Amino acid sequence: MDVQPEKLLVSGGARLDGDVTVTGAKNSVLKLMAAALLAEGTTTISNCPRILDVPLMADVLRGLGCRVDVDGDVVTIDTPQEPSFHADFPAVSRLRASVCVLGPLMGRLGRAIVALPGGDAIGSRPLDMHQNGLQALGATMRIEHGAVVGEAAKLRGATIELDFPSVGATENIVMAAVLAVGTTTIENAAREPEIADLVHMLNGMGARITGAGTPTLVIDGVDRLSPTHHRTVGDRVVGGTWAFAAAVTRGRVRVHGVDADHLTVPLERLVAAGAVVSRAPDGFEVRMNARPRAVDFVTLPYPSFPTDLQPMALALAAVSDGHSIITENVFDARFRFVEELIRMGADAHIDGHHASIRGRDQLSSAPVWATDIRAGAGLVLAGLAADGVTEVHDVFHIDRGYPDFVQNLTSLGATVERAPDR
Ligand code: UD1
Repeated sequence: MDVQPEKLLVSGGARLDGDVTVTGAKNSVLKLMAAALLAEGTTTISNCPRILDVPLMADVLRGLGCRVDVDGDVVTIDTPQEPSFHADFPAVSRLRASVCVLGPLMGRLGRAIVALPGGDAIGSRPLDMHQNGLQALGATMRIEHGAVVGEAAKLRGATIELDFPSVGATENIVMAAVLAVGTTTIENAAREPEIADLVHMLNGMGARITGAGTPTLVIDGVDRLSPTHHRTVGDRVVGGTWAFAAAVTRGRVRVHGVDADHLTVPLERLVAAGAVVSRAPDGFEVRMNARPRAVDFVTLPYPSFPTDLQPMALALAAVSDGHSIITENVFDARFRFVEELIRMGADAHIDGHHASIRGRDQLSSAPVWATDIRAGAGLVLAGLAADGVTEVHDVFHIDRGYPDFVQNLTSLGATVERAPDR
């Protein structure tokens, strides 16, 4: 899949106004697709977002011997009796999240070779907790020739305490433990809604997991799982992005398809900044009538403020009235994108994992580069609050997390166009 370089031309000044419907979560669907490896037969997953990562994950699964069909928002995965245990570099290198096949392969086959993708623009992403967790279940884990290699005669349940509630490590350990002998307890487990979504699907396949959404997950191993149908949970990060877009542009956006309970802290911070937030059965509305007040943000694992919305918080702080401190506690290099905001006139300084920002009434348009998915969306939000036309380069990052982003922005009243780049 060759992607032609494109940029976005974002005209500043519009107040977003209208409705937007959010589809399934990127950070859920990729793990749900990997979970299909755990059961022979045909699994279907609906409400899948139309983003490049879904076909890329489909390729990873095809490389493991599955038949995969992506049709609109439904992905159908036909898993063979004996999938391959080797996810090689060409497939994995294009999608960091493909490391989530490690747990299911260990659970199902007791054997896995999963190539390690390269570095990531948002900071280091080691796999020590993934490996230690699988080791505690009785596997031998090592890094060899650029791949993580796991072997186990039979996985056995164990108690595992994570040093940090890593989303990826929790998911891999759960997906290995569902077919282990005996009971596994994960302490300090990640509590993200995407973990609960995965647990929901696994239980639908016949797994016995309790404690989803709490720091303690208990998994009673079963002999086998059966294929299922599962609907992907709505994307709270995309929903949260629209909430911030409403606030940054002093507009009004009704978001459908996301559970407002999954955004409790971000919506509370927006209320502190002056927004009016109302909940609806299928989402919420955010309205900002005046210039936002500066508020502080601290990223931490769920249920605290998500690191994936930190760039949107920075965009808001850059135009708020007053001084904000934004603290990043999850990914070390996530502030790289602040340099781009500074090109737009933001009054921001970085000190370690704190960003200090004094809001300006208006930013000034500039050519800027998306450094990752969320930074890209943050720059578009900043562009909406700038004078003139902001050029956001490297749009492919944004496309990996935001289906129909330009169409949605346009329908909310913004003037945003895609154009060929270079
Ligand atoms: C997932 C999300 C990502 C989100 C992040 C935190 C996907 C595809 N991505 O990433 O969008 O920003 O959760 O909510 O779902 N760590 C270790 N050792 C490990 C594992 C992680 O040190 O073995 C560190 C990481 O470097 C990072 C922190 O733990 O600093 C959090 O990482 P983790 O929660 O694992 O994030 P991901 O699952 O990679």
